[in-house]
Formats: sequence, structure tokens, C-alpha cells
Amino acid sequence: MLVVYSGKAKDVTLLEDNKVRITFRDSISAFDGVKIEDLKEKGKINCRTSTILFELLNRYGFATHYLSNLNETEMICRKVEIRPVEIVCRNVTAGSFCKRYGVDKGIEFETPIIEFFLKDDVLHDPLVAKEIAIQLGWVTKEESALMESTTRAVNQVLSVIFERISLKLVDFKLEFGRTDGGELLIADEISADTMRLWEKETGEIKDKDRYRKDLGGVIEHYKDILQRLEEIESHPEIPIKSTAEITIELKKSVLDPAGEVTLRSLQRKGYQGVEEVRIGKSAKISFSLTPSPNLQEIIKEISDSILSNPLIENYTFDFSSGE
Ligand code: TMP
Ligand code: ASP
Repeated sequence: MLVVYSGKAKDVTLLEDNKVRITFRDSISAFDGVKIEDLKEKGKINCRTSTILFELLNRYGFATHYLSNLNETEMICRKVEIRPVEIVCRNVTAGSFCKRYGVDKGIEFETPIIEFFLKDDVLHDPLVAKEIAIQLGWVTKEESALMESTTRAVNQVLSVIFERISLKLVDFKLEFGRTDGGELLIADEISADTMRLWEKETGEIKDKDRYRKDLGGVIEHYKDILQRLEEIESHPEIPIKSTAEITIELKKSVLDPAGEVTLRSLQRKGYQGVEEVRIGKSAKISFSLTPSPNLQEIIKEISDSILSNPLIENYTFDFSSGE
């Protein structure tokens, strides 16, 4: 069978029916492959961790590439074309963020930060402004909005799950891919290689930073994370509070009588430079996220059928934490 892609830690083999087999190897790398070695059992542990986390996200209604687990080191996924940007979500300052801005590690953000990075080892995966990624064609505007809102919602779910097993989700990276049919799916792997996890009580590092910083005990800590995940794997019915914020605007081509009235009143009051006013509305829906059909689809359905009139209005939405 044809290996279509061989990365620093995984191989991807093309199967029939638009599926791929992903093989987790024992290699671990950092600093864009500058530091690389094999750690016994690492492939097995990351495959199992990714399997649990993807199954969990699928249950919570996220669209992911994961289909099934094949064996200890392999999973079967839908074939996607990986988008060239990685999305990083940060709850607490750490890693490249501290280096870039000269700030201490461990500062909790009020609202999680989303960053886009270009996937390019030669350029050392530079941070990229969303506007640049869109204008240079690395993602479409719609893709970037969906990637961002999905990543925020994933953060809500994973933060609560890890909290349950006494771990703090500091930050994580997601990759997205498109199917031949154009569907955008969460792809790649989700494991201790792709996130920062600190012991809740002591702040002890449990993730790939142990390897990056030569702290030792990489496999022991990866195994510990996995064992804790396995303990809650069988009862993941954890409700997670979330809020969807939906903004509804009249389509550009549609007349806006309320906007017209406001425009005339502003001009009467002497604001002569004002040329156009468009009045929109917004809605905040708070709900408890439980394993359910696709969350994005539910919000779209509510927005299409109740909150907006699709003939004359457009809407956008995002997720924030439930408080
Ligand atoms: P950073 O602080 O180095 O930018 O990393 C942010 C998060 O992204 C952290 O959880 C580790 C993860 N990450 C990857 O998964 N792959 C990478 O190549 C890099 C640089 C970071
Ligand atoms: N994933 C990157 C590498 O393998 C960088 C990192 O995770 O630190 O080199």
C-alpha cells in the first residue's frame, strides 16, 4: 500500500473509499525537527491518547477526520487535504508566546487567545495574522472563521475534561483538513505532543515540553495522562457550559428601513459625514454542551430557522465560555 506522507512522527497510507491509515511511530521531535529521537512505546501511547480524544470530540458533535482505531499504533481516518495553517489556542501564557512578547509564563487569559501559524518547518512555522493567511490564500475567510469558532469550542470541552483529571490545559494546537467534498474536519493528532498540560495542584509539566526542555520522564508522564483519560473514557457524559454569540446583519443588497431612519436622524442632527447606517442584531445563547449532534449544525439551524431570515439576512457566530 502506498505511503502518501511520512512526517516527523506519523505515516499516512492511502486506503480505498477516501480513507487513510495513520501510523504513529516512536519518534519524537522538537524545534522543527532539529532535535529528534525514538522513545519506546511513544507511538502506541500517542495513538491511544489521540483515539480517546478524537472519540470524545466526535461524541460532543465535532466534525473530525477520525473514523476508528485499527490497532495499537494505527487509526483509520477520512482522507483530507491538510490546510497549511495550524491553530493554537492558549488559556495561559507559555512557550513561544512568552518568548515573542517577553511575558512571564503562567498568566491566565481572561478570554482564550487564538493564533494562526503557517505550517512551514523551513520558516520555523511563523505566526501569521488571519488577514494575511486569507489574502495569501492559505485559508478562505469562511474556513478561518470556522476554524476559530471550532477551536474555541474544542477548548471548552477539553479544558473541562482535563480539569476532571486534575490537569490544566494550558494551550493546544489543532490542524484542519478538507475532504474532497469540501467538508472542513479537525485532523492530524491530539495528544501530549500537541498540547501543554500542567498538573493542576503543582504546575508540574506533563507534556512534550519535558522533551523540549530535557526534563526527562517523557514516557512516564505521557502514560500517566493516558491512564487518567482512560479512567473517565467510559463516562464522558460531562455537561459543559458554553455560549454561542450570533450576529445577524441584513444582506448588502437589502434595504434597511431602520438604518435609513437612523441615517436621516443623524444627518438632521448635523452628522453630515455619515453616509450609511445598517442596523443588525445579536443573540447570546447559553447552553450545556453534552454529547450531541454537531454543535455548529445546531447553531446554524437555530440561526437559519428562528433568529434570521436567510432570504435577507446573513449571520456569523462564535463560542465563548459559559459564564
Ligand atoms: P508554542 O508555544 O510553541 O507556539 O506552542 C503552542 C502549542 O502548540 C503547544 O501546545 C504545543 C503545540 N505545538 C504543536 O503541536 N506543534 C508545533 O510544531 C508547535 C511549535 C507547537
Ligand atoms: N512539532 C515540531 C517539531 O517536531 C515542534 C515542536 O513541537 O516543538 O519539531
